Amino acid sequence: MSNYHIKHLEEYFQVYRKSVRNPEAFWEEIAEEHFLWRKKWDNVLSWDFSKPEVKWFENAKLNITENCIDRHLTTRGEKTAILFEPNNPNEEAQHISYYELHKRVCKMANVLKENGVKKGDRVCIYLPMIPELAVSLLACARIGAIHSVVFAGFSSNALATRINDSDCKLVITSDGSFRGKKSIDLKGIVDVALNDCPGVKTVLVAKRTNAEITMVEGRDKWLQPLLDEAYGDCVAEIMDAEDPLFILYTSGSTGTPKGMVHTTGGYMVYTAYTFKNIFQYKENDIYWCTADIGWITGHSYIVYGPLANGATTVMFEGVPSYPDFGRFWEVVEKHKVTQFYTAPTAIRALAKENMDFVENHDLSSLKVLGSVGEPINEEAWHWYNNNVGKNNSPIVDTWWQTETGGIMISPIPYVTPTTPTYATLPFIGIQPALMDENGQEVKGNQVEGRLCIKYPWPSIARTIWGNHERYRDTYFSAYKDKYFTGDGALRDGVGYYRITGRVDDVIIVSGHNLGTAPIEDTINEHPAVAESAIVGFPHDVKGNALYGYVILKEFGETRDRDNLRNEINQQITEHIGPIAKLDKIQFVTGLPKTRSGKIMRRILRKIASNDTGNLGDISTLLNPEIVKEIMDNSL
Ligand code: PRX
Repeated sequence: MSNYHIKHLEEYFQVYRKSVRNPEAFWEEIAEEHFLWRKKWDNVLSWDFSKPEVKWFENAKLNITENCIDRHLTTRGEKTAILFEPNNPNEEAQHISYYELHKRVCKMANVLKENGVKKGDRVCIYLPMIPELAVSLLACARIGAIHSVVFAGFSSNALATRINDSDCKLVITSDGSFRGKKSIDLKGIVDVALNDCPGVKTVLVAKRTNAEITMVEGRDKWLQPLLDEAYGDCVAEIMDAEDPLFILYTSGSTGTPKGMVHTTGGYMVYTAYTFKNIFQYKENDIYWCTADIGWITGHSYIVYGPLANGATTVMFEGVPSYPDFGRFWEVVEKHKVTQFYTAPTAIRALAKENMDFVENHDLSSLKVLGSVGEPINEEAWHWYNNNVGKNNSPIVDTWWQTETGGIMISPIPYVTPTTPTYATLPFIGIQPALMDENGQEVKGNQVEGRLCIKYPWPSIARTIWGNHERYRDTYFSAYKDKYFTGDGALRDGVGYYRITGRVDDVIIVSGHNLGTAPIEDTINEHPAVAESAIVGFPHDVKGNALYGYVILKEFGETRDRDNLRNEINQQITEHIGPIAKLDKIQFVTGLPKTRSGKIMRRILRKIASNDTGNLGDISTLLNPEIVKEIMDNSL
């Protein structure tokens, strides 16, 4: 029998040892006993990080939706698969059973097929958190199409870039979306994006807000009438374990967003196994992850991981502040949520509000609390533990990335003793390494370094869509034969890991990954701007906020500064999305640069963070005098 469900610490250590001594045998056993394969693999793993190439369960055949839906129909057909909680608390929640989900996915799959989508085609999904979103992912997977979900908070420009990068031929969207008091014109955003996307032939439009929208003749179709007509069963396409399941874009420190490619078999096995253990999921639990399916957290831990375990997964359309700051807790009470998984930024925002919002609700159903997306600070950890968990629900601080597909370092609740701010121990099968500046592994405990992973795990991304060289350069070139995460970490006396944050030019704002380069490029497009540099600085709710240093062109100098600030932020909103707006913009006459012309962000970061006690040696700069000017006028 495989160790599918780990229940105590000794078992964790024993299973961990087994998983690293012989990873192939370990994962083979898990895969064999807990999943439905149409054909078993010829070889469990082949890999070479220098190429890089990783293949799990070679030549195995399966369809992930048969694992996430069909195989539960006999035992859990009536059970709620997706529990949809709408934005408006007065609108009724929907309990979508596994039967119903099967029918809806099959119908959607048939609609996609009728609209010319074939195995291997890319489908862009730009939808709010409504059931059609989860159904669309699964429908693509049903027929072997590759989904590329774009978070519905991205602008038309960002959407167009992503559609074109992976050459999507069909877009699924909605007339609009509800977010708290606001309703957003999603279809309008799609229309603008598609002016630059000649490859898109069809747009399927779900109805949500009933907003008046323009339907483009020959291209746009209302989804519901097509679903009504479609047949309610659809034979699952047989996929190879290494066929791509989806593309999901993430920001890099430079250049365009990276379309991370995840494949089918390994991703399924790893997300399902981590879900079961890290949330200690039991049959009648009600699991709720508050992320948006537009991010990897939603893909792996709202859709695939929970459904592969036959779980009930809550999908929440709204925001934590609507109709008031008690909404999360009201939903927990209403649906008797047992596992609650959210981001530190949400915890910090709610911790600032009146305690009545939490105390007025019965949270006694909760058994496990989760945190993801950025380091959780000690204060937020204690607030979460005391007020939400009542010191009775372990917090799993889960470290992972879009690229890793699943959770990599995390406590297992009721198994691993937790320590605030520590993601604690590597999950089963994960072999972390901390590296020093000279490229050597730092062994032992009480050490710090750059976090790498030494051995492949089943859900590692296989490439960047259309750019394998960039995949190699970004993740496998810094340290030989190791996957480099871009994060720094320390390992304490007992071997627990604490993630200290990004060591590259990626800034995490409210749990969202933002690359500096695309934001700077956008700012530089403003006619009055000559050059700019972005850094992060600590923010008590967002974790980090963005601070922009902007050099104006000569004519720009005469312009009103506040107007300029508004215009720059407007431009960012249009080109990327409101999540990338700058909190502070300082106009400067120069930026500190090395003699080779590289901007010294380290210095700008310190000034933005009001941490100017030790700026280090600035004498080697091309223009050391600029540092004082920037400091004197710092905001
Ligand atoms: O810096 C780490 C941070 O988020 C990055 C990955 O972002 P993304 O690909 O958007 O995926 C987020 C959701 C999985 C990481 O490189 N990060 C994520 N979780 C944690 C974290 N930092 C500290 N602690 C965490 N628990």
